[in-house]
Amino acid sequence: MASSIFFLLFAVFELFSSTIVTAEHPPFHRTIPPASLGLHQEKLTHLHFYFHDIVSGPNQTAFKVAQASITDKSPTLFGEVLMADDPLTVGPEPESKLIGKAQGIYASASQDGVGLMMVMNIKFLEGKYNGSTMSLLGRNAIFSDVREMPIVGGSGLFRFARGYALAKTHSLTATTAIVEYNVYNPSFLITTTTTTMPKLLTFYRTISPTYLGLRKEKLTHFHFYFHDVVSGPNPSAIIVDSSPRPKLPKTPPHSSEGEGNADRFVGVGFSDFRGRSC
Ligand SMILES: *[C@@H]1O[C@H](CO)[C@@H](O)[C@H](O)[C@H]1NC(C)=O
Ligand SMILES: *[C@@H]1O[C@H](CO)[C@@H](O)[C@H](O)[C@H]1NC(C)=O
Repeated sequence: MASSIFFLLFAVFELFSSTIVTAEHPPFHRTIPPASLGLHQEKLTHLHFYFHDIVSGPNQTAFKVAQASITDKSPTLFGEVLMADDPLTVGPEPESKLIGKAQGIYASASQDGVGLMMVMNIKFLEGKYNGSTMSLLGRNAIFSDVREMPIVGGSGLFRFARGYALAKTHSLTATTAIVEYNVYNPSFLITTTTTTMPKLLTFYRTISPTYLGLRKEKLTHFHFYFHDVVSGPNPSAIIVDSSPRPKLPKTPPHSSEGEGNADRFVGVGFSDFRGRSC
């Protein structure tokens, strides 16, 4: 089923090509066999691990890197930005086997109820997944029972990755959050050029796509308006890093390229946009 979806998508692109390509130019795209990139049939991988986030103490793993002028007064700490390098382990105990690290940024991006924006590279350290990464980008309402966040890509054995992560808090103290993760990742079975395979592991399994009720693909069209208010009584976007702008020499040595851009730089902003959908 999954491989037929792949071919259907390529068939659609092929259809568009006949209307875009002109006689003067060679085509800017081509159809190639998936096997030419080492891609074979699709598979679904289920990963299960625990995420340890420690915000103070001797073993701190997450550090505040920026906040906004209103963060301290905000009930949701809107605008607070942390950089984390959090251990991922097979069990909830901090001393259980390390299988990877979640490295990235989480930031308070919601003014109504706590909602973090998570931008994390999950780097695996164990067995055949050692060195492969998965990129997670999503909204984490940390006080909800189970949060769902998209997997938007990956590297190594997770090339072409997509899927989703389910996160459930296992324990929470003033300094440490231990969060259970289940990640479902449908991706191509990738053959590598290496001939030596590491020892089999116990923290993942391959399951049939129908196990999650995955059937044929569909196309959804969204239409909405985005409201960005940077000042006034109800701002939806705020500056979180107001450090001074770098001073540029009056006469740049070789070119003036970039000067205009630097002048316009005001800081890194975080927003909580309220879209209206129809
Ligand atoms: C910090 O980590 C070390 C090594 O894993 C451990 O022995 C120690 O108990 C930890 N300290 C705290 C406060 O958790
Ligand atoms: C993971 O890969 C690194 C770099 O190749 C290597 O040093 C390390 O020993 C590997 N870890 C495991 C558990 O295989």
